[in-house]
Amino acid sequence: MAPGVTRRNFLGTTGTLAAGLTSGAAMAAGSAQAAETAVGDRLKVLGIGCSHRKGRTTSTALGVCLEAARAVDPRIDVELIELAGLKIPGHVAAGVPLEPGERDDFPQVANKIADPALAALILATPVYFGNMSSPCKALIERCTIFHTDHSPLTNKVAGVLAVGGGRNGGVELTVRSVQVALMSLQMIVVGDARPTGHWGGTAWSGAEAVKNTKGPDITRDELGMATMKNLGRRVAEMTLRLAGCRAC
Ligand SMILES: Cc1cc2nc3c(=O)[nH]c(=O)nc-3n(C[C@H](O)[C@H](O)[C@H](O)COP(=O)(O)O)c2cc1C
Repeated sequence: MAPGVTRRNFLGTTGTLAAGLTSGAAMAAGSAQAAETAVGDRLKVLGIGCSHRKGRTTSTALGVCLEAARAVDPRIDVELIELAGLKIPGHVAAGVPLEPGERDDFPQVANKIADPALAALILATPVYFGNMSSPCKALIERCTIFHTDHSPLTNKVAGVLAVGGGRNGGVELTVRSVQVALMSLQMIVVGDARPTGHWGGTAWSGAEAVKNTKGPDITRDELGMATMKNLGRRVAEMTLRLAGCRAC
C-alpha cells in the first residue's frame, strides 16, 4: 500500500487518487480534460508494454504502433514504458496491504497515467492462455484508483494491441478483454484504422517468417505490423479530433 495509506482509508479513498501520486498528478486527476485540450498543446500518447520480457515481441510491436502515432502530427509526443522488472501487486486493489518490505512500483506508473499531458493510452500485452498477461491484469486492477467520476482517464483515447504465439491462440479475445476494462475506465476505445480496420493491433510471433529469425523478429509479421501502424494512426487521429482539430 502507498505510504501513509492504511488499509481502512485506502478502501475509503480508492477514488481520491491521492495514494502514491505526486501532487501535480493528483491535481491533474481532478479534471477530465482530454476533450478540452487546446489545439497547439502537446498531446502525449503513452504506451505501456505489459510483457514479462523487456524489449521482446510485445515491446517491439508497441514501438511500431507509437511511431505511427507520432508520425501523424508534430504535436504528438510518444513514450513507451515497460512493466517488465516492475513489481505491481494486484492485491492492493482489493485492499490487501503490502507485506512489510514488499515493493510496489505502481505509483510511478500511476503518475505517468495521471500526467496532465496524457491524451491517449495504448496498452500492449502478450497473449497468455488466451488472455492478457498477469502484469497487464495487475496494472488494470490497480487502475481501480482511476475508476472515479473525475478520473484523468475519462474521455482519453485508448488503443490495445496483443502479440500471440499461436495463429488462433486468442489474440483478438485478448485485445477485447483489455478494451472492456478500458471502457470501464471511461476511455474512448478505438481499433486499428482502415484498411486493416478491426479491433486493434494483432501480431503473431509464431509465424514462420517471424520465428525463423533471431529474436524472433516480430516486424516480419507484415499483416500484424500493418495493424500496429493503423492502430497508432487511429489513436493519433482520434486524439487530435478530441483536441479540437475537426478537420483531422
Ligand atoms: C505462459 C504463456 C502462455 C502463453 N499462452 C499463449 C496463448 O494462449 N496463445 C498464444 O497465441 N500465445 C501464447 N503464448 C505465447 C506468447 O503470447 C508469445 O510468445 C508472445 O510473443 C510473447 O510476447 P513477448 O515476446 O513480449 O514476451 C504464451 C506464452 C507463455 C509464456
